[in-house]
Amino acid sequence: MSGRVDGKVALVTGAGGGIGRASALALAREGAKICATDVDAARALETARRVQEHGGAAIALAHDVTREDAWREAVAATTRAFGRLDVLVNNAGVAGRVSLLDFSLEEWRRQLAVNLDGVFLGLREAVRAMQTGRDETLGSVINISSILGLVGSPGVAAYSASKGAVRLLSKSAALECAANGWRVRVNSVHPGYIETPMVLDNIAALPDEAARAARKSALLAAHPLGRLGRPEDIAAGVVYLASDESSFVTGAELVIDGGYTAK
Ligand SMILES: NC(=O)c1ccc[n+]([C@@H]2O[C@H](COP(=O)([O-])OP(=O)(O)OC[C@H]3O[C@@H](n4cnc5c(N)ncnc54)[C@H](O)[C@@H]3O)[C@@H](O)[C@H]2O)c1
Repeated sequence: MSGRVDGKVALVTGAGGGIGRASALALAREGAKICATDVDAARALETARRVQEHGGAAIALAHDVTREDAWREAVAATTRAFGRLDVLVNNAGVAGRVSLLDFSLEEWRRQLAVNLDGVFLGLREAVRAMQTGRDETLGSVINISSILGLVGSPGVAAYSASKGAVRLLSKSAALECAANGWRVRVNSVHPGYIETPMVLDNIAALPDEAARAARKSALLAAHPLGRLGRPEDIAAGVVYLASDESSFVTGAELVIDGGYTAK
């Protein structure tokens, strides 16, 4: 049986957990070779091991997405290992809920560095590597934004600023690639609240059980489908945007949020 991304090579950042790991595994299941990268090398290695365990091809790299030199090395290592790069999933991200009154410049810069600078550096490096193309299919850059790049929320000034910027960065890059005949599509993905450490650790850190229960039920109520998302829900969108099924899709925003932003 042929896979939906057979023969493609995908680099996934933040692949050591949550949405990144689920995306790497789903892409591998559909036939892609994987470069799993994460600032936490051991977790990236574990993702690569899981791909290999299921018969897929994968390498793992320690990779801090905020570092320009690390990006050059990550793309070079991928093409050394697999001969090409077809798909970049710019997934690595950090969050942090702080009142605007207490938001330090340091925390602002920390979130922007990973969520926005990291996406920019990866996008630029991938377009450089993919622009000439070697066959009729286009490369695909998939930037993981958020519903908080579409609508506001209290306490997430830096996070929503970074995710909103990723949305428009994706559209501008998509248009620039198209205008220049560079063989790359660029799209953003906007998950609702997903059951990953980013969300679950945040709930667990609340001071008492009543606060945790209240937060959980508020999150459930915000999603009309009545549940939080699973990493696999987002991975399914990533596979679609990576595959040639989406060959006419660029500059689009794929919202996967259980109806959160439909209200
Ligand atoms: N979980 C959600 O509800 C949700 C909702 C919308 C968008 N997102 C976005 O999805 C993406 C993945 O989130 P997740 O929920 O899987 O989070 P997660 O915390 O489970 O995983 C994030 C991964 O990124 C890695 N990482 C952090 N800083 C890095 C850096 N500087 N360089 C490389 N890797 C780094 C972490 O080690 C971790 O493995 C993020 O961009 C996040 O903002 C998540």
